[in-house]
Amino acid sequence: MSDTTAIESVLHENRVFDPPAAFARRAGHVHVPSMEAYHARHRRSIEDPEGFWSEAAEAFDWFTPFSKVLEWKLPDAKWFLGGTTNICHNCVDRQVDAGYGDDVAIIWEGEPMPGGRPEVRRLTYRELQAEVSRFANVLKGLGVERGDIVTIYMGMVPELAIAMLACARIGAPHSIIFGGFSAQAIADRVTDAQSRTLVTADGAWRRGKVVPLKGNVDAAIEMAGIVENVVVLKRTETAIGWTDGRDHWWHELTASASEECPCEAMDSEDMLFLLYTSGSTGKPKGIMHTTGGYMVYTALTAREVFNLVPDRDQVYWCTADIGWVTGHSYIVYGILPNRVPTLMYEGAPNHPEPDRFWDIVERHKVTQFYTAPTAIRAFMKWGDEHPRKHDLSSLQVLGTVGEPINPEAWIWYHETIGSKQCPIVDTWWQTETGGQLLTPLPGATPTVPGSCTLPFFGIDAAIVNEQGEEQPANTGGLLAIRQPWPSMLRGIYGDRPRFIDTYFSRIPGMYFAGDGARRDERGYFWIMGRVDDVINVSGHRLGTMEVESALVSHDAVVEAAVVGIPHEIKGTGIAAFCTLEPQHQPADEAATEALRATLSAHVGREIGPIARPDLIRFTDALPKTRSGKIMRRLLRDIAAGEDNPQDMSTLEDQSVLAQLRGT
Ligand code: PRX
Repeated sequence: MSDTTAIESVLHENRVFDPPAAFARRAGHVHVPSMEAYHARHRRSIEDPEGFWSEAAEAFDWFTPFSKVLEWKLPDAKWFLGGTTNICHNCVDRQVDAGYGDDVAIIWEGEPMPGGRPEVRRLTYRELQAEVSRFANVLKGLGVERGDIVTIYMGMVPELAIAMLACARIGAPHSIIFGGFSAQAIADRVTDAQSRTLVTADGAWRRGKVVPLKGNVDAAIEMAGIVENVVVLKRTETAIGWTDGRDHWWHELTASASEECPCEAMDSEDMLFLLYTSGSTGKPKGIMHTTGGYMVYTALTAREVFNLVPDRDQVYWCTADIGWVTGHSYIVYGILPNRVPTLMYEGAPNHPEPDRFWDIVERHKVTQFYTAPTAIRAFMKWGDEHPRKHDLSSLQVLGTVGEPINPEAWIWYHETIGSKQCPIVDTWWQTETGGQLLTPLPGATPTVPGSCTLPFFGIDAAIVNEQGEEQPANTGGLLAIRQPWPSMLRGIYGDRPRFIDTYFSRIPGMYFAGDGARRDERGYFWIMGRVDDVINVSGHRLGTMEVESALVSHDAVVEAAVVGIPHEIKGTGIAAFCTLEPQHQPADEAATEALRATLSAHVGREIGPIARPDLIRFTDALPKTRSGKIMRRLLRDIAAGEDNPQDMSTLEDQSVLAQLRGT
């Protein structure tokens, strides 16, 4: 549990907000209009999952119909067995075939505002089909075959969505790496996935500066070695290194590529993508998602949770980066099948001014807005004058994801952004779950600030103890899912034991999410935070061991312990305690500061800027139990400035504690 203040406040929250009456009026149509409708469908989905999901799957084109809905042999779920389809076809071609080729699929806005005007591109389904097909042919021309893993490391440009859909089209699973990750992180992922083809850009715009994507790729390939082809999109026009034979310009290859490229018929259980996420060991794990179940689940959740309705002038905007699962599922794959334009924005929320997001909402008349609590807290801090400058009356549904939302931020979102007219959907899910599992439905569920409320259709969630026994109301426990759902992960790439161990060993017979939670007397879920060595920084998952490994890889550091601390904007910040090599002991305060800066930059280089510690403390020793385990709980208390004397009984060396406390 990382953010104790947030947890304290949610424990006492009892304000209930019914779906605002204005919502149904403005939406025109509401998919799930009442709690009765929700309960009836949820009951059906649990009692007859095969019937429920078989009907949901009918909304899609299948090249070969599936013969069986589910095969469940713990821990392996297979959905829509025997069926073949293609998610790119269902996102793009199906819309063109149905006569909607001229509808807008993607609205993109770049970060720079040349001459004070934004750069905007609108891609129709027909244009998207042509661009995706062209790039799919480019990949084939480079020798990419069905089953080959293609790594994508780009900024938020339309070509990122085009590249991922092109991979899906030809059956090459993609592995997208967030553009904020470092060369080392790319090298690790490329090596783990044995990926020979990489798609990148010369650079990405971020807060008016260029992130040197291609430079990072070059450094990564030096470490990883196995990459044979790199396709480079020209975006920032910055000078870059070039290796003839290996590097190719996107615009040159696509210029001569054909617009005809049939979609491969993929087995429902063929891998669609690999996405690396942090766990409690130092090595990120490649989460595997497959085709059919992921397609059906993400599109259905997107439709019901955001109340997506085509032909009603909706514009959906999720502010996440496609490098995270939120962007995979709720910018691209779950949205395009619903035929509501999905907006992609390239840059930072405060560039050139802190009102950029609200400016975008106003200009594009955004109807659904999905962001993270960390962003909401930053907006609160920047001041109400920024949203107040803009007409936000187009908004219908507001969403949050990634971390618990503190009630103050919830209320601010509700009042200042939503003018009390928009339901808030606080969606709980994970990279591993593929789609949203616990969430309100905007026209039905009464919401309580801080609670992600109730399970989506087909989700059998429970709070249990280590023996798998369900806990009574308001008793904290482990969040577990008792039945398989279509978009659940199918494994960790190349690591079957870790897959079983992480998700299916702690609680007998159930999927263990890694989160602690409780249910209230209403049955609503309240997420309390991770119970493993994972911290959630600004809604992004980081393993404490990853940061520790990065620190000890520096010459000065002997041993490091990393814990989460409450942070006003990030939710959880990173505190690092390090012991140093004797020759690197700083002589004075200035040297101490310099070493802190060096180590922070080093972590930024090893993992990425998001992993840079907020606090670095040097100490002669780390507090350990008699069996040698680092006492993280104690370090958390010290970092947060709240000593807790009861916890010191097993401490090996009391003088360590005195030193850490500065006494
Ligand atoms: O701890 C939970 C938290 O984020 C974790 C999943 O992180 P990741 O795989 O990076 O996916 C984030 C986006 C889906 C969870 O184990 N988390 C996610 N959503 C919420 C949340 N915690 C509380 N409330 C949420 N709505």
